[in-house]
Amino acid sequence: MYNEYENAKSKLEKFNQANLLNLLNRLDDRTELVNQVNSINFEHIMDLYKKVKEPNYIDVNKIEHINYVDKSKLLDKNLEEYTKIGEEIIKNGQYAVVTMAGGQGTRLGHIGPKGTFKINVNKEEKYLFQIIVESLQKANNKYNVIIPWYIMTSSENKNQTVEFLEENNYFDYPKEKVKFFVQGNLPLVDTKGELIIDKNCLIKEASDGNGSIYQSMKKDGIIEDMKKNNIKWIFVGGVDNILLKIVDPVLTGLTIKENNKISSKSVVKTNPKEKVGVFCKIAGKPKVIEYTELPEDMACKKDVNGELVFGEVNILSHLYSIEALEELSNKKLPYHVAFKKANYLDNNNNFIQVDKPNAYKFEAFIFDAFEEYEDMSILRVKREEEFAPIKNAEGPDSPETACKLYNNFIKLQNK
Ligand code: UTP
Repeated sequence: MYNEYENAKSKLEKFNQANLLNLLNRLDDRTELVNQVNSINFEHIMDLYKKVKEPNYIDVNKIEHINYVDKSKLLDKNLEEYTKIGEEIIKNGQYAVVTMAGGQGTRLGHIGPKGTFKINVNKEEKYLFQIIVESLQKANNKYNVIIPWYIMTSSENKNQTVEFLEENNYFDYPKEKVKFFVQGNLPLVDTKGELIIDKNCLIKEASDGNGSIYQSMKKDGIIEDMKKNNIKWIFVGGVDNILLKIVDPVLTGLTIKENNKISSKSVVKTNPKEKVGVFCKIAGKPKVIEYTELPEDMACKKDVNGELVFGEVNILSHLYSIEALEELSNKKLPYHVAFKKANYLDNNNNFIQVDKPNAYKFEAFIFDAFEEYEDMSILRVKREEEFAPIKNAEGPDSPETACKLYNNFIKLQNK
């Protein structure tokens, strides 16, 4: 223990962590903190911290439109062909679904994992996880298979997620077909470059973004598991879009036919000011560009048909071949920084509740991996059929707006 303590202390001195050194002196039992300090890659964190003030430079001259296929305009023969190819994959048991459920859902403010949030749709109370299970079951019945379901959690919400699904008997989904994996964490850093201390006298860590998915799947043996089970195509989606179409033969068939290893669905941007990320190409490679990064004139630019040139909204509906997932699991994605509120323990053992942002959080984004490929398929689908996100407690993209969209969609289907 002595060596480990010395090791932790010198690490904290080297990286100017005065608050943590102070805490180490105050603690009677230091074991847990010492272990945590020794497990953290401070070089990496300090590198990220140093880059916080560097603007995220994108050469706007290199931003180009990306080609897409509009599902509603497909010729019948193409639609049939893609459907047939995709259905073969699904029926052969070569299709799996991954739900990313490691987010903190801060905007919604629900206590507990977001998948455990309950909404009232079609006159029935349902949990977000339950809605996903229903989509899976519908596909299982249609194709006479049991689609493997993988759930990414954070280390923070893993236990609650598993317990919730256990208590609800996985909403009758065959339990042996459900597997969990845990995404990575990174410490939060204050404006002086010191790591934030939590009320449990440990360094406060938070999930490091949904881009963590690739490495985490490898780390927890999920890619191996998929290969062992002969899975060839993997759908990856978020937990909070209640109209997300997680089993889609058309997307699968299109991707195979276009000879791509990855693909995504998009919906049309409603207006140039909508606060969403859109697909584009940068320096010839596919990418999602955030609304904050897209210059106004480009956001407003229209093509000869009067459509926005950068109008394909990313709805977190992605498909990968198993080869692509494996390749991406060996890549390092860039981290983006967000300035967030983080309550902290001060040097007098007071737990300070902050009312404004005070800490940097580092996150990798799943779509930053797309530029590893020359091309990807984009399938434009109808917003009213596939996009009803729950992000905020009220206002746009809230339970109220999502439930309305869901109910309208059910009504349309039953017509
Ligand atoms: P969001 O970007 O909407 O983040 O995640 P969030 O954490 O759910 O919500 P806010 O921003 O704190 O309000 C989009 C999808 O990616 C998952 C989320 O669970 C959601 O399904 N996600 C996000 C992760 O799995 N891990 C992360 O670290 C972040």
